[in-house]
Amino acid sequence: MSSTGKVNAALAAAIIFILLSSCSAYFAFNRMDASQSWVRHSRDVQNALAQFSRAVARAGRLRSEYMDSGDNSLLQQQADVVDQIRNTAAAIQTLTVDNARQQANWKELSELKEQRIALLGAALELKKSGKSTPAAQAAISRQSLAAADRTDQVLQRMYDAEEQLLAERQARANSSASLIATILIASLFLALAIFIVHHLLLVDQVAARSRAELAQRALSAKVLTLQDEERRKFARELHDSVGQQLVAMKMAISVLQSKLPGDNTLQDCLKLLDDSIAETRTISHLLHPPLLDEAGLNSASRWFVEGFGRRSGIDVSLDIHDGAGRLPEATELVLFRVLQESLTNVHRHSGAKRADVSLQTANNQVILRVRDYGSGMPPAVVESLRLDGSGGGVGLAGMTERIREIGGKLEIHSSAVGTEIVARVPMSTKPARQTISPPRMQEVKG
Ligand SMILES: Nc1ncnc2c1ncn2[C@@H]1O[C@H](COP(=O)(O)OP(=O)(O)OP(=O)(O)O)[C@@H](O)[C@H]1O
Ligand SMILES: [Mg+2]
Repeated sequence: MSSTGKVNAALAAAIIFILLSSCSAYFAFNRMDASQSWVRHSRDVQNALAQFSRAVARAGRLRSEYMDSGDNSLLQQQADVVDQIRNTAAAIQTLTVDNARQQANWKELSELKEQRIALLGAALELKKSGKSTPAAQAAISRQSLAAADRTDQVLQRMYDAEEQLLAERQARANSSASLIATILIASLFLALAIFIVHHLLLVDQVAARSRAELAQRALSAKVLTLQDEERRKFARELHDSVGQQLVAMKMAISVLQSKLPGDNTLQDCLKLLDDSIAETRTISHLLHPPLLDEAGLNSASRWFVEGFGRRSGIDVSLDIHDGAGRLPEATELVLFRVLQESLTNVHRHSGAKRADVSLQTANNQVILRVRDYGSGMPPAVVESLRLDGSGGGVGLAGMTERIREIGGKLEIHSSAVGTEIVARVPMSTKPARQTISPPRMQEVKG
């Protein structure tokens, strides 16, 4: 699988995994929520049982008070408590409707409840009738006590059954909580692991890409060096072979002319030879100006700008700050090639009638600026240069690469009012920088 494929696969795996673990966490949460609501339900049943027990006990106390005091106001309270007992019993029935065992218990509890309410009523009626005797009341109390014992037993059974259910439901809720925690922790770690793998794959890919870019840059630097060497060689060959032969031919024809004065053909030949010698010299010097090696960048630039102005008809102003003196050979050659390519571009693409060239030094840097007042670069070229340094031909890419090779940087400013190329290189050459960045693009303020 390609490295991009691996990176995408790792990312897809991480996303799928996070989605799956989110789903399982969601289901586990639902399960826990259901268990929690059953726990609450058991507690409600236990509360209702306790309420029932309290109401029954209160009814017993009210009966004793009434027997002692004969206070009729207690009868209303007694009636209220009886209602409360019945309501609570109904609530218990509703709450335990899902549980057959508890429903059976409730049935028993309900019968006991009615029995106790009836005994209570009988005791009160006896008291109200004024025929109450301790023996009759004691007989009722004995029956009430037996019913109370059985009620307590049933209540305890019901309470225990709910307690058992509560324990089971609580255990289920706890296991759901642990399951959720396990799922979340495991998915967190696994997602982290997959993201680390993804990151490592990305780092690997970026490293491979930058290695490829470095190799590509090294190759272009080599191509540019070879091109310079070829130009130098070709310029020398042109000068030393064709150039010298043309000069020798001119000398021979001059000898002939001295023997045949007034011969127009020989005169024409001499004129053609002069033009050819001049043309050969120009081509040879443009390929590699000897001035560059002999007198340096300043003189070679003056010579080139002057010749360029003559050949192109463009009015080029030149501002050279001589303070820099001679620069390293590589720097002088690079700056000369930038000047050559920039002015060639001005002539080929800008349509400008005027251009400015300046060569200055500042902050231990040599700064070459070539500015024209033409149409500016097409927006598409400007955009692609800004994005990744591509989009131009060989010229701009070559300039960028040459400048980078000697540790400098190239800025390209372009707008509808013209283009400016600014090359900044250190006075002393440094090894090429390792960072990869397109040339800086800016708009020229017109
Ligand atoms: N001074 C300029 N004015 C306007 N457009 C320019 C200028 N310099 C460059 N360009 C635009 O930028 C493009 C890229 O220039 P570059 O020098 O890289 O390639 P080129 O000149 O087209 O071909 P070559 O590879 O022969 O140099 C040109 O095609 C042109 O559209
Ligand atoms: Mg060009």
